[in-house]
Amino acid sequence: MNSNLSRQQFLQYTASAGAAILLSSLESFALESIDKKLRVALIGCGSVSNRYLPQLLSSKLIEVVSLCDIKYERATAQNKEYKVNAHTYPDIDAMLNGVPFDMMVTTTDMQVHGELNKKALLAGKHVWSEKPMANTYAEGKALLDLAKSKNLRLWGAPAVVNSPQFDFMSKTIQEGKLGRVASAHGQYGHTGPTWSAFFYEKGGGSMPDLGVYNMATLTGLLGPAKSVMAMTSIVNPERTVDDKGKIKVEAEDNAHILLEHEKGVISHVMCGFNYFDPHGHDAKGQSLHSIQIYGDYGNMRLIGYDWETSGVMLDISWADPPKLYATESEGYEWQEGARVTGESIVKGIEPRINVEHALHVLEIIEAATKSSATGMKIKLQSTFKWPMV
Ligand SMILES: NC(=O)c1ccc[n+]([C@@H]2O[C@H](COP(=O)([O-])OP(=O)(O)OC[C@H]3O[C@@H](n4cnc5c(N)ncnc54)[C@H](O)[C@@H]3O)[C@@H](O)[C@H]2O)c1
Repeated sequence: MNSNLSRQQFLQYTASAGAAILLSSLESFALESIDKKLRVALIGCGSVSNRYLPQLLSSKLIEVVSLCDIKYERATAQNKEYKVNAHTYPDIDAMLNGVPFDMMVTTTDMQVHGELNKKALLAGKHVWSEKPMANTYAEGKALLDLAKSKNLRLWGAPAVVNSPQFDFMSKTIQEGKLGRVASAHGQYGHTGPTWSAFFYEKGGGSMPDLGVYNMATLTGLLGPAKSVMAMTSIVNPERTVDDKGKIKVEAEDNAHILLEHEKGVISHVMCGFNYFDPHGHDAKGQSLHSIQIYGDYGNMRLIGYDWETSGVMLDISWADPPKLYATESEGYEWQEGARVTGESIVKGIEPRINVEHALHVLEIIEAATKSSATGMKIKLQSTFKWPMV
């Protein structure tokens, strides 16, 4: 292997199809010849960056080289708070023209993810994006096509499929312990974010912010959905938020979504910004289940929310009480997606999180909005490799 291979070539090479197979020949070169750290630029230094930055900074394979926010003082404040020692920028163009980096991590308002991710891909950067990766399925699909054409990687949150509890549930289903699976339900809600208006503006809503987790979990467990029917509404038409004061709510804040999977399996997701939950936005200490899966031999319930769960209650006996399994987090944290995918580029391995799955969930959200507006059942075109475990 040519030891003059540039860092950019190396990262693109390991990210390309088949790279894992060829990695052994690359590995000695990689370990000895280059500084293997993936250079990351994070855009959007708001609330969730407080969870992302410690994750990224904890990795030996990642170096955070740039921070960016249109509220520039946030980029400099986070740089100081987390002792990042990064370059800071007031907009994406300045960042793309600034110090070189390999992967952009997008944690801005949802409505601008698509355009920012596109700019990064066009500039030759890999992308991890908070959900949703784009505003529409078509925009997301175009991003994926662009990424593939440039031999770049693109991923979208959430990272729920990485949890040991997802792993346990998926294996339990695949091993047939529940018998023939028929139905599932997921729910996630709280009284809504109080800090930023974008959650309630057009392109926002409880589905891309909250329901997205359950949609990723249920499709991850039961397989891609073939069609969607939904009802959404606005329960609270006016809100007061930190950045804009009193605002009119334009996006749904209450949603029920029915998913039709293969073999007659039907699942249901319920999400909203008007759900009293004494455990709050962080859901700390939540002891009730939020996901349940039913088959004709057994059922299982995931305790807490799927992004931060404390175990799975499995009930497969007429005689014995249900038992709690998968009680350890094994290092999994919901905000680990950017770190895990970034490290996967350096290591040349394929992570479980995959962009087709995120794209499928994006199509579900768009279809649910359409179904609610028209009263129609909406057929889906996207799919992803399943089972995931
Ligand atoms: N806050 C959470 O706990 C949480 C958890 C999981 C996922 N998320 C997701 O993370 C994303 C951000 O949420 P948040 O709560 O951090 O929001 P936030 O409002 O706290 O932060 C968003 C930041 O992005 C910046 N921004 C907006 N447009 C920009 C642009 N064009 N260029 C650069 N910066 C820009 C804003 O100035 C703001 O500082 C959303 O997609 C949200 O769904 C948030």
